[in-house]
Parts: sequence; C-alpha cells; structure tokens
Amino acid sequence: MDLITLQKVDESNFIACFALKLHDWQEQFVSHPIRSLAQAYVYYGQCTPFAVCSGSRVVGYVMVIYDYDEETYNIWHLMIDKGHQGRGYGRTAMELALSYIRTKPFGSSNRVLLTVSPENHTACKLYRSLRFSETGRFDEDEVELGLTLK
Ligand SMILES: CC(C)(COP(=O)(O)OP(=O)(O)OC[C@H]1O[C@@H](n2cnc3c(N)ncnc32)[C@H](O)[C@@H]1OP(=O)(O)O)[C@@H](O)C(=O)NCCC(=O)NCCS
Repeated sequence: MDLITLQKVDESNFIACFALKLHDWQEQFVSHPIRSLAQAYVYYGQCTPFAVCSGSRVVGYVMVIYDYDEETYNIWHLMIDKGHQGRGYGRTAMELALSYIRTKPFGSSNRVLLTVSPENHTACKLYRSLRFSETGRFDEDEVELGLTLK
C-alpha cells in the first residue's frame, strides 16, 4: 500500500481536490473542498487545508483550523473520495491531522473540536475510536465532539 500523507493544498493539487466526489447521500454531511478552500482563503491566517494523498494520488481532503477566541484546534471537512472509502484513509488522515495539531502550528492549545451529524454513523464511529467524546454543545443539527491531546 502506498504511503498515506497530508499535503498542504497548493497549485500542484488543488484541482485534484476540486475533483473529489462523495456518494449522493454523504453530501449533506460535509462541505465540498471547493467551498472549504473558499473558507480557507477567508481564514488564511488560522488554517491549513490538506489534500489526503495515497502516494501521489489525492484521495481526500481535510482542514485544520485554529479558533483564537476559544483557543481550540478544529478539524473541518474531512472527506475521502467515494472510490477510496473503507480502506483506512479516513482514519489515517485523522491521525495525521492530530499529529499536525501536536506541532502547535497556530496556538498552544491541546484541545481539538469537530462537529458531526449524529446520523453519520461511519464518521461518529471513527471519531469515537480516536477517543473524541461529546462536549455537550451543538452546531445546528450537528453534535460537537472534543479530544484533549496528551
Ligand atoms: C467518514 C469518512 C471520512 C471515513 O473515511 P474512510 O476512509 O471511508 O474510513 P476508514 O476506512 O478509515 O474507516 C474508519 C472507520 O469507519 C468504519 N467504516 C468505514 N466505512 C464504513 C461503512 N461503510 N460502514 C460502517 N463503518 C464504516 C470502519 O469500521 C473504520 O473503523 P475501524 O478502523 O475500526 O475498522 C468517509 O466515509 C467520508 O468521506 N464520508 C463522507 C464525508 C463525511 O461524512 N465526512 C465527515 C464529516 S464530520
């Protein structure tokens, strides 16, 4: 199996990020990289968008963003292309995103937050297995999960 890496989105890979596709029923769960990268432009001083790569092939996307008000890291818009799901890429992408956060690229916080639809059973299972747990807060119809890095 090719090495799975997170590569910062740049001119070499952004078109491949634009081409990522989900199953129709998954589109409700996450913003597409096209929209996410537009947000990354707005929040350019506090976020890093990544292509998830298997070897040189872009198979997914994820963004790490720092909330300077709450002093927390957030993981946004994780997605693996529908043709590459179920092979461990999502789990590895999350582990790599957490490793990146451990380098404290923006602020010194150890706290990581994300939100997920309770109906998104695959993502919920993945996050819980990485020890994320409910914070008790909600963002519209999504639950917030948090993890404190050791
Ligand atoms: C959620 C998502 C990123 C997971 O990526 P993936 O590469 O398919 O997942 P992985 O192969 O790494 O598997 C992660 C876990 O989910 C489980 N899983 C994967 N596919 C599954 C499926 N179809 N049904 C049930 N569980 C599944 C696996 O059991 C695995 O757990 P394990 O490692 O203990 O076996 C991917 O399904 C996706 O892009 N979904 C649509 C977008 C989305 O919902 N993003 C999350 C927004 S919060």
